[in-house]
Amino acid sequence: MSRVRIAPSLLACDLARVADEVRSVEAAGADLIHFDVMDGHFVPNLTFGPGLCSAVSRITSLPLDVHLMVTDADSLVEPFARGGASRIAVHVEAVTHLHRTVELIRANGATPGVALNPATPVWALDEAWPLVGFVLVMSVNPGFGGQRFIPGVLEKLGRLAAERNRRAPGVELVVDGGVDTANAHSLRQLGANVLVAGTAVFGEEDRARALARLRGEERA
Ligand code: DX5
Ligand code: ZN
Repeated sequence: MSRVRIAPSLLACDLARVADEVRSVEAAGADLIHFDVMDGHFVPNLTFGPGLCSAVSRITSLPLDVHLMVTDADSLVEPFARGGASRIAVHVEAVTHLHRTVELIRANGATPGVALNPATPVWALDEAWPLVGFVLVMSVNPGFGGQRFIPGVLEKLGRLAAERNRRAPGVELVVDGGVDTANAHSLRQLGANVLVAGTAVFGEEDRARALARLRGEERA
């Protein structure tokens, strides 16, 4: 089993010091930067646009993992790809023509991912497995950082991992929402390849220690 990768979510960082925050998690050994895009329609919150994405991409060499929680994903694919996104996830609940959107993401040079909400069934991905590079499994209802992990998602992650192993072993499973040191071990055991963590990284003074603990490489 390869080492789990950690993607700190900028939603939880001190936005007045965003450059310092990005540099601090990069120096601490983060693998990706998770960038939450909310439109006030698909989710009840508004966050970051392609301009900030582009600014962040100029100050880090880490891949930018863009999570589009928006009603109209297609219109944002190109701006975010131009803004330096390496990976772009769209919600299966929001996108009408998933195949077309995934092709659009690839055509713009980014790795496509599909995200699913806690109440969205595993079968919603039936046709998506061969299309995407990763599946982003929401373990909170999207819209806000700092929410509590929904425990039922553990069982769902197990079913997703079984489906992934059978149908598309190369597809990564990413877990997003309420990830912390209490559930990281189970998530790793169940087959998560990437853990998105906002509060559990940016809420800690010692970012290297926070990352190590999420990876199960405890430091004193
Ligand atoms: C929730 C976002 C998450 C969020 C995670 O809508 O998609 O990426 O930032 O934050 P924590 O880890 O604090 O739950
Ligand atoms: Zn996210």
